[in-house]
Amino acid sequence: MAGIYIHIPFCKKRCTYCDFYTEVAPKLIPTLVDNIIKELEIRRDYLQNEPIHTIYFGGGTPSILKIDQFSKIFDVIYSTYPVDKDAEVTFEANPDDLTVEFFNSIHSLPFNRISIGIQSFNDEDLKRVNRRHSAKQAIEAVKNSQNAGFNNISIDLIYGLPFQTLADWEQQLNTALDLNIQHISAYGLTYEEGTALWKQREKGRVKSIDDDIMNEMYLLLVKKTKEKGFEAYEISNFATQGFRSRHNSSYWKQSAYLGIGPSAHSFDLKSRQWNVASITKYIDAIEHNTTLFEREELTLFDRYNDYVMVSLRTLEGIDLAFLEQTFGQELKNYCYENIKSFIDTNKVIFTNNRLCLTDEGIMISNQILIQLMQV
Ligand SMILES: C[S@@+](CC[C@H](N)C(=O)[O-])C[C@H]1O[C@@H](n2cnc3c(N)ncnc32)[C@H](O)[C@@H]1O
Ligand code: SF4
Repeated sequence: MAGIYIHIPFCKKRCTYCDFYTEVAPKLIPTLVDNIIKELEIRRDYLQNEPIHTIYFGGGTPSILKIDQFSKIFDVIYSTYPVDKDAEVTFEANPDDLTVEFFNSIHSLPFNRISIGIQSFNDEDLKRVNRRHSAKQAIEAVKNSQNAGFNNISIDLIYGLPFQTLADWEQQLNTALDLNIQHISAYGLTYEEGTALWKQREKGRVKSIDDDIMNEMYLLLVKKTKEKGFEAYEISNFATQGFRSRHNSSYWKQSAYLGIGPSAHSFDLKSRQWNVASITKYIDAIEHNTTLFEREELTLFDRYNDYVMVSLRTLEGIDLAFLEQTFGQELKNYCYENIKSFIDTNKVIFTNNRLCLTDEGIMISNQILIQLMQV
């Protein structure tokens, strides 16, 4: 079981909070697509012919691509890799791209899931962080996706945006939960060093929301999604029955994946590698057949840390049987001994040989993780 991730590193403009690698360089799109196709061919053996269960176009803004550009990429994927016939095939989209015309143009492509970056349904919030769409466009984007036949729709929201109150956040959730969608990814705003938003905070123009309010916003998110039948299957991810993101879940379950495009990461169970985060350097490396990625062999401790870090955030938690089987008894005991005090204080529940965070534990998940890491 494996996945393919394709990074489309273009944005029409940059949001103030975002530090993902993307550029505003539309002229480079056609050349980049050609080189993505070449990379898919060059790295055909990376996943050793494992069946592909998920394909994910992330960004940046994959919805910036034209139908023939998507088609060319799919042609190579389907002719080169053993893609499962019921593979989950997702693309991330910005709301203003999701017009009726756009859906008419892509209806023959194999996409069966869409992840729409909405962030907020409040026009003031959207303007402040330099989003390029309005609240109305966001709602229309969801409706257009549904009318086009998509029945596996996810939206991204951010809570704790500058000046947002708990009541504002509740309104966002009410709007989201009335849209008949299947999945929500909701992230607490982080101020990433070097971003425009981070600079605004340095200058005192915006300030971070208090931790207590952020925690209340999170608890409200958990409560309201639960009332609507969503399961909090990971700290930031909520799905109705049968609609968990299979692509993200496979990252959390340590499956292999191939990341294509500038800055994309790959994992083959033994090592990680990450492509150069520059469109021009990436194109140059592919065209001149020079090294396009850095690579790190993973030690037992690295793999243990990765597993603990991601699984603690999931509903299923840390599986001690898996831990022992994969990393040995010593590391399993280390993990259990170091988490014991959190079980005693009800931050973690120990059940069915698994360690799962409680709502209180989620609030201090980083603190718990630090205790479990092997450095
Ligand atoms: C890289 S973006 C891709 C989605 C798409 N480009 C969009 O913006 O609509 C993935 C998601 O990460 C989240 N995100 C990015 N930067 C963040 C930050 N600093 N704090 C919280 N969430 C963030 C946003 O919800 C965003 O939709
Ligand atoms: S949040 Fe999305 S649209 Fe905004 S800059 Fe980041 S990748 Fe681009």
